[in-house]
Amino acid sequence: MNKVIGIIGSGAMGSGIAQVAAQAGHNVVVYDNNHIALDKAKDNLSKTLNKLQEKGKIDNAATILQRFVFADKLESFADCSLIIEAIVEKLEVKKAVFSEVEKVVSEDCILATNTSSLSVTSIAAACKKPERFIGLHFFNPAPLMALVEVIPAIQTDAAISTFCKQLMLDWGKVSVMTKDTPGFIVNRIARPFYGEAIRIYEEGIADLATIDWAMTELGKFKMGPFTLMDYIGHDVNYVVTETVFQSFFYDPRYKPSFSQKRLLEAGWLGRKTGRGFYNYAEGFEMPQPDKNEELGQKIFERILAMLINEAMDALHLNVATKTDLDIAMTKGVNYPKGLLQWCDEIGPRNVLGKLDALYNIYHEDRYRASVLLRLLAK
Ligand SMILES: NC(=O)c1ccc[n+]([C@@H]2O[C@H](COP(=O)([O-])OP(=O)(O)OC[C@H]3O[C@@H](n4cnc5c(N)ncnc54)[C@H](O)[C@@H]3O)[C@@H](O)[C@H]2O)c1
Repeated sequence: MNKVIGIIGSGAMGSGIAQVAAQAGHNVVVYDNNHIALDKAKDNLSKTLNKLQEKGKIDNAATILQRFVFADKLESFADCSLIIEAIVEKLEVKKAVFSEVEKVVSEDCILATNTSSLSVTSIAAACKKPERFIGLHFFNPAPLMALVEVIPAIQTDAAISTFCKQLMLDWGKVSVMTKDTPGFIVNRIARPFYGEAIRIYEEGIADLATIDWAMTELGKFKMGPFTLMDYIGHDVNYVVTETVFQSFFYDPRYKPSFSQKRLLEAGWLGRKTGRGFYNYAEGFEMPQPDKNEELGQKIFERILAMLINEAMDALHLNVATKTDLDIAMTKGVNYPKGLLQWCDEIGPRNVLGKLDALYNIYHEDRYRASVLLRLLAK
């Protein structure tokens, strides 16, 4: 497809998506309302592509760089066939930008948002032609992460969804189709990886290092939950949890924790500030795990059961197909296995047993098993 792609917002995600589109052969117009951000993106893209060439990963950095136009006016989008927005995560700002964009683009230009947590349907509602609006959720860093969640709004024309799914494949991405529900697939299903780990820590069942050790050593996850949260940053990770919780009408399953909220309030955002759950200051020794296999196995099985339950419920509510749910977790957050495949291997009855045991102790809705898991266990 030799079409011009427009990107709104030249921050971390916008410039990453722009790179992906340009490497796929498109001319790309990158717009930002902040000159400094735009200059920075221009500079970063040049450095990144030249570095890729030095490493021998590409041989046409100069050609790709010629495909970019950096613009400070929305009018520069006039020739675009697809616009992807990656600006600040505020509903009213996104709505306002799209109603301006619609005035300058052609009738058949597709409009997309990279929002992580807002309803695609609500942004689409700001457009005169909401049927051409869709969510395309890339992961950070966009050039490296394979997954794109394709999220039709309830107004989206089916042909637009099919076209975008194929386009993402053409860009070398793995795309999954998901319903416009809070957190889409990955940010919804991954919640217990963080939340249940924090709960285990808060109750004093195990310390941070032991929980991280259980999940990496016994669960084969690439990073333990606390290391990962410190890496993502609590300003991002906590806010996603809180947004998902609110968007699910305060379902206790997604309830955020005070431990993480306090880190955010203290400005202990994780690696980037030198302190989060762990202290990264120079000379500060990382705590060592208690490598008690029995305890580790309990922790791993508890968190895994909660994750599988979340995936099962998403399947039950038709958020995505079984295949797409598993692809999303292995490609979007590098889980060692798809959660539904994992459930098949362990056996739904065993997973249900873990959840019901937790429910019987706590009597909290947080541990209620998905109806589908209960049916499969029968
Ligand atoms: N960072 C992530 O891990 C991640 C992952 C997936 C999706 N997202 C989503 O992508 C979007 C962007 O996130 P980011 O991390 O790239 O943010 P960022 O802060 O790095 O970049 C946002 C850019 O948008 C520009 N901007 C803000 N308001 C604007 C406006 N009205 N018009 C034009 N430009 C404007 C800013 O100047 C900035 O350069 C958000 O919706 C976020 O939820 C982020």
